[in-house]
Order: sequence, then structure tokens, then C-alpha cells
Amino acid sequence: MKNFPKLFIPGPTHVSDDILDILSTPQIGHRTPEISELIGGLTKRLQQVLYTKNHIYLISHAATGLWEMGVKNCAKKSILHAVNGAFSSKWSTVSDKCGFKTHVINYDWGLGVKVEDVDKMLSTGKFDVFAMVHNETSTGVKSNLSEISELLKTKYPDVMWLVDAVSSMAGIKIEVDKLGIDFIFASTQKAWGLPAGFSILCASDKFIKKSERINNKGYFLDILTYEKYYQKCQTPSTPSIPHIFALKKVLDIIQDEGIDNRWNRHKEMASLTQNWASSHNQSLFPEVGCRSETITCINNIQNWDINKINDKLLDLGYRMDRGYGNLRGKAFRIAHMGNIYKNDLIEYLNDFDKVLNDI
Ligand SMILES: Cc1ncc(COP(=O)(O)O)c(C=O)c1O
Repeated sequence: MKNFPKLFIPGPTHVSDDILDILSTPQIGHRTPEISELIGGLTKRLQQVLYTKNHIYLISHAATGLWEMGVKNCAKKSILHAVNGAFSSKWSTVSDKCGFKTHVINYDWGLGVKVEDVDKMLSTGKFDVFAMVHNETSTGVKSNLSEISELLKTKYPDVMWLVDAVSSMAGIKIEVDKLGIDFIFASTQKAWGLPAGFSILCASDKFIKKSERINNKGYFLDILTYEKYYQKCQTPSTPSIPHIFALKKVLDIIQDEGIDNRWNRHKEMASLTQNWASSHNQSLFPEVGCRSETITCINNIQNWDINKINDKLLDLGYRMDRGYGNLRGKAFRIAHMGNIYKNDLIEYLNDFDKVLNDI
């Protein structure tokens, strides 16, 4: 589309024209058989993408609200937060603001969550909830879910495991049931490749049962409010119907691409970007073993003039990222997820090279 730069920022991400078209589909009633049929079909397909039989809720607000929903519906004791970047930090602040007792395992930015630290804290017996971000958007760090899954299954089966998968879901394979995640969610403006303001939530029976024993959760963020309407394949309040239509389109795109091809595409785009960075003698911000498939965060050790590059790339029709918060200029990110394909990325990196030559 003319005048709108193509987004290579880690959200909102590029929304393709076919999805934009679907967003203008005429509205349907939210208490009709048509919507129930639509949501029922979507639920089954979302369960396939997440490898789960758990309940899937369509949420017409940003993922930030799900940080709050997660903790409000299951914390009776204290909440353990792993904090290794800006978003995991914000989540722990949300728990504090909700009045919960919390403890934070703090990591330097660039590091992944370490299973031994989680074990050490959970062994105190103080916590009934463990909350973490799978893919720290601020740093491009992907933490290892399998190791944590093993720990929780073998030693702490009663602890509720909450995972923010905002910038990984639909771009990185997450086998929810195999891992045993109780509450996992993403908003749609990242690897789902849809506009912001809508989220997908997947919750286990264990989570829903625990919520039944918790009072004073309010109404809007009570998972039981969603559960009541889940049985009718509807949502408690009027949903964002354009998002629901567009989500169906994304699931068609995923089906056409093939789910394994989608995971592989994201892996390939990550390697391509990582190799591009090393070929320019830049280094990667995340530690080895924790590099995300959806976002590459590059240390600007060559001292490129990121603001100048940003202006030039904008002239060429791209919106780049200049680095999150204090990292601005020091480490910048390239997002490669959702509606960004290998050719789009190659085109972007080639144009990036032209800009580098120019300046
Ligand atoms: C990892 C992560 N969690 C949560 C959020 C907040 O999502 P939303 O803006 O949909 O509330 C973001 C936004 O970038 C994110 O990257």
C-alpha cells in the first residue's frame, strides 16, 4: 500500500492486503448461529496450531489484560516471575499492582530463563504460580520451555504455569499439552500478522478449576465468564468481529502453507538474519541457545548511525526498529514473522545494505 511503510518492527507487524480486505467484511450478530459456527470452527483449528485440547478463548483486547487475568484467576499464595526483559518486567509490575505477593528472578537482558533458578525458588514452597515470557520481544531472547516443563511436571505439578507467548505464538512451534502449560496467550499483532487489539488465550482444566476457588476477580477478567460462553462458541461481550473473520483467513493461510513449513520458515528467516548480521561483523544480543525465530536483536558493535539508517529506510518504504528503551541505537531488532516471507526479508536486507553503502 502506498505511503505506508512496510513494517519490520516487532509489532505491530505487516498485515497483508488479503487480510486487510477481509477486515472490511460486513458485521454479523454476536449472538447468532453464524458466529457460533465461525468461532466453533476457529477453536478447533487454533487447538491444532497450539497442539492442545485445552480451552481457547477469543479476547477482544490487548495481551496486557491477560497478564492481569492470568494472575487474578489462579494466585492464592505468591507469584514467581522470571524477568529477563521489558515485557516480563511489566508483567511482574502488573502482579504487584494487583496486590499479590511476588518474587522476581532477575536476569541481565540478553539471557534466557534458567531452569535451575526456577527450581531453587519453587523449592521454597512459597509459590503457587510461575509466570514467564517465552519470547522476550525487547531482546529477541527465546527461553527454553521444555526444560521448565520437565521441572514443573516432575517436581511441582501443583504450581500453575503461565506463559506469555505474545511474540512467539503462530511463529514458533509450542506444543501446549505436551509441555503442560496452564495459561498461554498472545495478542494478534505479532506472528499472527493481524492488527492489534485482539488476543488468543489457551487455558487448561487445572487453571479453570483453580479459578473456581478464587473470589474477587471482578467480571471482565474472570475466566469463568469466558468459560460460560465458550460452551456456546460465543464471547461474553461483543467481540471484534473483523478480527474473527481475519483470524479465519490467517488459519487458511497457515493451512495452505503447512504448519511445519510455517515453523521452518521462521527458523530459516532467523538464520538468514543472523548470518546477515555476522557477515557485517555485528554480533547478536541474545546469548547462544536463546535466539528467537521471530525477532533478531543485533548488537550495533559497528556503531552504525541507526537514526540515519532509519530515515533512509523510511524513504525506501520500510519501518525499522532502532532498539527497545535503553538499547536504542546500541542494539536494534529485525522482526521476521507472520506475513513476512523469506523474499520480503531478503528484499529488506538488500535495501538495508544499499543504505549502508550510501551512508
Ligand atoms: C512479550 C510481550 N508481552 C506482552 C506485550 C503486550 O501486548 P499488547 O500490546 O497486546 O498488550 C507485548 C507487546 O509488545 C510483548 O511483546
